[in-house]
Amino acid sequence: MRLQGKVSIITGGASGIGHATALKFAQEGAIVAVCDLNQEAIDADAVVNEIKAAGGEAVGYVVNVTNKAQIADMVGDLKTRFGRIDVLVNNAGIVQDAQLLKMTDDQFDKVIDINLRGVYNCARAVVDTMVAQGSGVILNASSVVGVYGNFGQTNYAATKFGVIGFVKTWAKELGKKGIRANAVCPGFVATPILKSMPEKVIQAMEEKVPMKRMADPKEIASVYAFLASDDASYINGAAIEVTGGLTL
Ligand SMILES: NC(=O)c1ccc[n+]([C@@H]2O[C@H](COP(=O)([O-])OP(=O)(O)OC[C@H]3O[C@@H](n4cnc5c(N)ncnc54)[C@H](O)[C@@H]3O)[C@@H](O)[C@H]2O)c1
Repeated sequence: MRLQGKVSIITGGASGIGHATALKFAQEGAIVAVCDLNQEAIDADAVVNEIKAAGGEAVGYVVNVTNKAQIADMVGDLKTRFGRIDVLVNNAGIVQDAQLLKMTDDQFDKVIDINLRGVYNCARAVVDTMVAQGSGVILNASSVVGVYGNFGQTNYAATKFGVIGFVKTWAKELGKKGIRANAVCPGFVATPILKSMPEKVIQAMEEKVPMKRMADPKEIASVYAFLASDDASYINGAAIEVTGGLTL
């Protein structure tokens, strides 16, 4: 098991890629902190129970990544229980799509707050602990949209490009302190985040992928698990595209 005993925070861990990543990390032996917005809507505890039922170790936290007090409470609790934080997967993210011509400030601000500032908030909250340990891994959810842009996604593309900037900077600042930082750039993945996208657009996207299908969330989770593990010990500051060849 590649992540045996690694205390790993997965933000947005109750749905889609975060859910699959929480399960994968637990299978690899990690102690998983599953955090998400609220228990009624998403129920991070359901994921925790799923992990425990399969023999893994997990703790659930209601954490909004825009809320620094909630993040600090989670980090404090994890340190009290386990004494360390080994991996942060900054997975939580949203879309609020509109063309530039129609985008509202509210749509812009919401996406920046969660997808960009939320990533900063969580990394800022764990970095001291990782530096003191002399080890740690920070992984950010970017997107193919952060590399190439996308129609109707001014706000989202900016955040996904931004989190690549974060990992390149953190790789330079923190590499000598034993911390690696990388981003994952999925293409299109079959998760609830795509529910606002018309079926016709999804079909057109699938058609563009040489493999003629979207990714399963498990296919992204396995990349996070690899990057979190010592198998990726010399990968630092990278933005790894996982697109089935979409951009070729
Ligand atoms: N699905 C795709 O095609 C795709 C492609 C590229 C990148 N991504 C990125 O992968 C990540 C996960 O996406 P997904 O498709 O699994 O989405 P999803 O909507 O299924 O899951 C996102 C989770 O994040 C949580 N979340 C939202 N705002 C939050 C906040 N403020 N604080 C804490 N949690 C919050 C949601 O409650 C949800 O559980 C996102 O960052 C997304 O941008 C997804």
